[in-house]
Amino acid sequence: MVAARASSVVLQPTRKQRKLLKRKAKVREKRKSMKEKKLKEKSNVTPLVTKYWFQRYDLFSKYDVGIKLDEEGWFSVTPEEIASSQARRFAGAGVVIDAFSGVGGNAIQFAKVCHHVVAVEIDPKKVALASHNAKIYGVQDKIDFVVGDFFQVAPFLKGDVVFLSPPWGGPSYKAKENFTLDLLKPKDGYAMMIVVFDQFLHVHSLFQVAQAITPNIVMFLPRNVDVLQASELSWLSSPPLDIEVEENLVHGRLKGITVYFGDSKLCL
Ligand SMILES: C[S@@+](CC[C@H](N)C(=O)[O-])C[C@H]1O[C@@H](n2cnc3c(N)ncnc32)[C@H](O)[C@@H]1O
Repeated sequence: MVAARASSVVLQPTRKQRKLLKRKAKVREKRKSMKEKKLKEKSNVTPLVTKYWFQRYDLFSKYDVGIKLDEEGWFSVTPEEIASSQARRFAGAGVVIDAFSGVGGNAIQFAKVCHHVVAVEIDPKKVALASHNAKIYGVQDKIDFVVGDFFQVAPFLKGDVVFLSPPWGGPSYKAKENFTLDLLKPKDGYAMMIVVFDQFLHVHSLFQVAQAITPNIVMFLPRNVDVLQASELSWLSSPPLDIEVEENLVHGRLKGITVYFGDSKLCL
């Protein structure tokens, strides 16, 4: 008896076919990079922010609808997933003050779930961008934009929550092994004591300025922040504030730390 033998034929592409496939792949790659180049030119992307442009949908899911950012906005906006989870804790809250609102990443997410947002920003160009971006998300009517220095306008503000995402000093913050709160711009995030002729001169920190408005304060800080120092702010307050520290990840990568002081599940 003769056993039947299974046979298989593996077809190898010829040299000519291989060359053709390689050429096609090259053309596809070239077309893709031309398309990205054109898109980047259209959205004013400088070499410094190219890295952030590749993350554009993490920053704003509606990027393609016409979101606009300036150079600083590209690397300082809170990624949407993080801004949205920070805002959800305060769903139903009354007035949220976004003290450093930039191009609107956080203000937009707060406006989606809270009653009203007061967005303070020192740079009028960013305020114009934030207002434009808020329109894209359909929440412009829920935000009052204030062009001004938060430290100057704070005494006139009333709100239930103050959200603080001050500048971290540009992308170079990553180089610090331990990011202490005095590195926050434009003003120290921690209480400072300066000795002048044996007398203590108390310089108000960012945290203290916010505390004069409400004890419900949220700070969005770099991933390398000195968490112990940040927590000290809660027990240095009188009465001591409740505190919760949260790690913020995007695609499994740590992007920042949010510290919630006071009542972090505030619904008014
Ligand atoms: C880290 S960015 C905020 C980003 C914002 N959370 C977002 O998601 O778009 C910090 C912003 O604070 C602004 N800023 C700096 N000093 C300020 C001040 N004294 N008062 C108000 N805004 C200030 C900067 O212009 C910058 O846009």
